[in-house]
Amino acid sequence: MKALKTLLIGAVAAGSLLTANVVWADAAEIEKKIDAILEENGYICKTCHQIETKGVGPAYMDVAKNYKGADDATVAKLVKQTIEGKSEGLIWGPDSADGKPDGKGAMPMPPNMSSKTSQPITEDHAKELVKLVLSLAK
Ligand code: HEC
Repeated sequence: MKALKTLLIGAVAAGSLLTANVVWADAAEIEKKIDAILEENGYICKTCHQIETKGVGPAYMDVAKNYKGADDATVAKLVKQTIEGKSEGLIWGPDSADGKPDGKGAMPMPPNMSSKTSQPITEDHAKELVKLVLSLAK
């Protein structure tokens, strides 16, 4: 019986380690896909957004958690903001934490463009990036 218990505890421990690894691997995979789009097209999102850490802009993981289960209209709004920038209704202030905006945002997001062509980000790329960002939270 004791042996069985030990075995079970071992299995549970191994199981949770595995889950942690899977979550981490997912985020790393998603980040790779984001990076590929950014690098190929010269988008500079990462000067303001990191995956896990808040910078000038919110961490992408926090954006994903905040909009978990977002409907199409919300996703469309995020895509529009990614293209045109966001200067009103700023929500991501200094006390935002763990996917919860504090409503005290002060930094606008400028319209996004390619640093290679100086052209605005394409709608397709904005959609892809927003989808990838939102997929960070399952
Ligand atoms: C110069 C800095 C800067 C750059 C570059 C930038 N952002 Fe942002 N972004 C911000 C800030 C600041 C906010 C938070 C606005 C607020 O407080 O509501 C933000 C918010 C967002 C949000 C969440 C909007 C919301 O309402 O919750 C998304 C999604 C986003 N950015 C995507 C992108 C993508 C994709 C790119 C690159 C194509 C990008 N950003 C480039 C500064 C930036």
